[in-house]
Amino acid sequence: MEIVSNIHYVGVNDRTKTLFESLWPLPNGVSYNSYLIDDERVTLIDTVDSNFFELFLKKIQSIIGDRPIDYLIINHMEPDHSGSINLIKKFYPNITIVGNKKTFEMIEGFYGPVGEKVVVAENNTLELGKRTLKFFMIPMVHWPETMATYDIDDAVIFSGDAFGCFGALNGGVIDSKIDTSIYWDEMVRYYSNIVGKYGSPVQKALDKLKELKINAICSTHGPVWTTERCKVIDIYDRMSRYDSEKGVVVAYGSMYGNTAEMAELIAQELNELGIKKVVVHDVSRTPHSYIIADVFRYKGIIVGAPTYNNQMFPDMEALLSKLAARDIKNRVLGFFGSHSWASAAVKRIEEFNTKLKFEVISAPVDMKHSMKPDVAQHCKELARAMVERLDADLKK
Ligand code: FEO
Repeated sequence: MEIVSNIHYVGVNDRTKTLFESLWPLPNGVSYNSYLIDDERVTLIDTVDSNFFELFLKKIQSIIGDRPIDYLIINHMEPDHSGSINLIKKFYPNITIVGNKKTFEMIEGFYGPVGEKVVVAENNTLELGKRTLKFFMIPMVHWPETMATYDIDDAVIFSGDAFGCFGALNGGVIDSKIDTSIYWDEMVRYYSNIVGKYGSPVQKALDKLKELKINAICSTHGPVWTTERCKVIDIYDRMSRYDSEKGVVVAYGSMYGNTAEMAELIAQELNELGIKKVVVHDVSRTPHSYIIADVFRYKGIIVGAPTYNNQMFPDMEALLSKLAARDIKNRVLGFFGSHSWASAAVKRIEEFNTKLKFEVISAPVDMKHSMKPDVAQHCKELARAMVERLDADLKK
């Protein structure tokens, strides 16, 4: 699979892993992308998860036969990309590893002595023969050592996790030759789940890359982006600025259906007041990965939970913890809860919002036992307050 002349895709698909980082569902699998530049000095960019090394090696050998690899460039050290470093060194003992200062601290920590190495820094170049590569540090996209490698001659950027997405590759690799429609939602989910906390570093990386002519984006996960590269850059730009659409995520936990009834009523009222994009999630059933993606998409979030052991319902606390860990900005929050004898859930949600730092739209709705006309009215008022807040943005 040649991306441009002498730059080959040698990545692999993982259709067996069910949870990425043991957290995030992979219904369509994931690819670990690696690229081989067949120049005077043969160069490999990143490796793959070590479980796929045999196939990875076969792909490399199908291109270069018995010739050695001169350089292994490590853009990112997370083990889904660095896991095969030692195996590559075993098969290519004279290989020189190329990375930055932080890369090598991590290689030694994870895999032991590095061997031959070239330490690069911002704007350094590496001559391969016909091609010249240039390096850009893009720390925290997604780890502190992460860098991007740029092929000056054909304007190809090897971007690490930046511009990546979930979803294995179905035969083809290059966007212009495949159906890309399956990847857009998975890009939002990948960004929000994996890179979402690092909006500011992503913006800094985008600023650097803005200066470059880019014909192809070769990330570590998902398709190679050529014809649709501008759309991909735009998605990463909007998400890292915490930009949002007019819409509301209603997320609730419910043991016996009473809190669910409040959620349904709020969602119905939101819709009646003109909000088309309302998504309702039961936090005990929808994997939080998808709820997080929707919170990155939409401006409004309304959460509700019953009181459980004088705390908020645990699955809601788990969701809010994951949201707080992502430092999502510019979101507005409404909340509600229910209880049977002592009310705690709404207080706990309010306390939790000191971590979330979302703008609260109105007082919460707290229901005892079951739905009554006054509670229904309060639920509708909560929905109305959300709509008014969202409309206020449009009037600015
Ligand atoms: Fe796909 Fe941050 O590694």
